[in-house]
Amino acid sequence: MNKKRVAVLISGRGSNMAALIEAAKADDYPAEITLVVSNRPDAAGLARAREAGIATAIVDHTRFGEDREAFELALDAALAAQRIELVCLAGFMRRLTPGFVSRWSGRMLNIHPALLPQFKGLHTHRRALAAGVKRHGATVHFVVPEIDAGPIVAQDWIDVRDDDTEESLAARVLEIEHRIYPRALRALAEGRASLTSSRTQAT
Ligand code: GRF
Repeated sequence: MNKKRVAVLISGRGSNMAALIEAAKADDYPAEITLVVSNRPDAAGLARAREAGIATAIVDHTRFGEDREAFELALDAALAAQRIELVCLAGFMRRLTPGFVSRWSGRMLNIHPALLPQFKGLHTHRRALAAGVKRHGATVHFVVPEIDAGPIVAQDWIDVRDDDTEESLAARVLEIEHRIYPRALRALAEGRASLTSSRTQAT
């Protein structure tokens, strides 16, 4: 099978990256994790990628000051060098410009630790507890210019427990993330999830 060449963009520990690397080991998985790119030289996920024998690149955003376009040109160069076809943002903490997003329209996914459109933005578990929601979870979506707003590819949820803390909730949601991200990438790589409509059908 001709596996799609995927880059995973990280900024930190890379546990979602690790889940994607693990899933892509299956012979029938329609994608290979070809490259891991971090905007932070100290991201712990880089060591995990190297241990897995995966090419890594560092595009340190602090080298470009406020020039987001210059940062993204360097990002694009790293992706082009490995003939990347699909991009997975996984704990990647830089806002991407509409120009970069449109270049990867329909080919870039992100994972968000909440049931979008609920709780866009940061500190989602704390906000879920404060709001007293009874269900909480994670979402994989296509990246569009608006933050945390693209068509949803995969979601799953858990019941919030009365004794949940931000940490216990985050841990249980992370387990969901590690399950649904590989499933969502499979759907995209197999052409079962596409950014044609405002809704995507991914099984
Ligand atoms: C995760 O909660 C993810 O949803 C969010 O960043 C957190 C860290 O992810 N995008 P990871 O462990 O670096 O994959």
